[in-house]
Amino acid sequence: YQKGVKQFYDNGHLLQRVPKKYILPPSERPSTNMEEPNVATLNFQLPTIDFVDLLGPNRSHALQSLGNACEKYGFFQVVNHSISDEVVRNMLDVNERFFDLPMEERAKYMTTDMHAPVRYGTSFSQTKDTVFCWRDFLKLLSHPLSDFIPLWPSSPVDYREVAATYAEETKELFLTIMEAILESLGIKESSQEGKDNNILKDFENCSHMMVANFYPPCPQPDLTLGMPPHSDYGFLTLLLQDQVQGLQIQFQGKWLTIQPIPNAFIVNVGDHLEIFSNGKYKSVLHRVLVNEVKSRVSVASLHSLPFNSTVRPSPKLIDEENPKRYMDTSFDSFISYISTRETKNKDFLDSRK
Ligand code: SIN
Ligand code: FE2
Repeated sequence: YQKGVKQFYDNGHLLQRVPKKYILPPSERPSTNMEEPNVATLNFQLPTIDFVDLLGPNRSHALQSLGNACEKYGFFQVVNHSISDEVVRNMLDVNERFFDLPMEERAKYMTTDMHAPVRYGTSFSQTKDTVFCWRDFLKLLSHPLSDFIPLWPSSPVDYREVAATYAEETKELFLTIMEAILESLGIKESSQEGKDNNILKDFENCSHMMVANFYPPCPQPDLTLGMPPHSDYGFLTLLLQDQVQGLQIQFQGKWLTIQPIPNAFIVNVGDHLEIFSNGKYKSVLHRVLVNEVKSRVSVASLHSLPFNSTVRPSPKLIDEENPKRYMDTSFDSFISYISTRETKNKDFLDSRK
């Protein structure tokens, strides 16, 4: 297995240069891809959804902002949500302590088995990347929660407890946001309808995976990336990041840097929601820059339908004016397709129309 990038800094070691394996060809480096920063990109703020509005008398206005954000950016941030500052802080903190453990302890979870319930790894796709990216990660399957907790890291001692609380609370937050998104698409779920029609019910049993990312400082941040441009596969990703910026999203051919807001969640539309919404909401390419002096920690919580289900455009969004734009696919074949494709971008979605 590959030991990853954290090892370069273990035992007080300080790296002077980026090793060859991490140097991107000039056309894929962050600076060459990035237009000169202008006023618009420097002052860019993601649309913000305030839960006080979303769950209160201002709901219809908040739903409109939510819909606009999903159409225009594929990204928004939520504030005043149900998850306490403490739960958020503990999750970032316990993962930081995990990545600080001696290599032998972290190495217990290293595997190239994509289906392992707990997987510590590096880069984006270790088995396929020709150039590695500047990222180590810990992936945890999280549903059904009680089946997986005993398999999660036992060190740091509070890891399982902190991560379990976080998993439960992000799942709740996901369900609340998903319900609002369905409503913003004009799909009102009602218990009168048959179960087949009630996608919200399916989400209660949805697939849930958490990925903690660690990006150490990088001596030459212009030569490499923490994560290459990619879209997320599921319905929604709820992302928690510390105060070090790095996440960029693609918008009108430019890369916009997302400024971290303490305790806010960044939420983005995944490929499955793009398909389900018949292309109305977009799963947008994003990437991660690394920092010359600071390390960065983020935790992504990925939510989608159950693994054995079929992903298809909602029949409620198809009519004569809006023909079906994506094929039905099983979740399994979707996953095996995206894990074998060469590029990480969204070309495959277009070819499926
Ligand atoms: C991701 O794309 O899942 C991670 C983004 C980040 O670390 O900010
Ligand atoms: Fe992502």
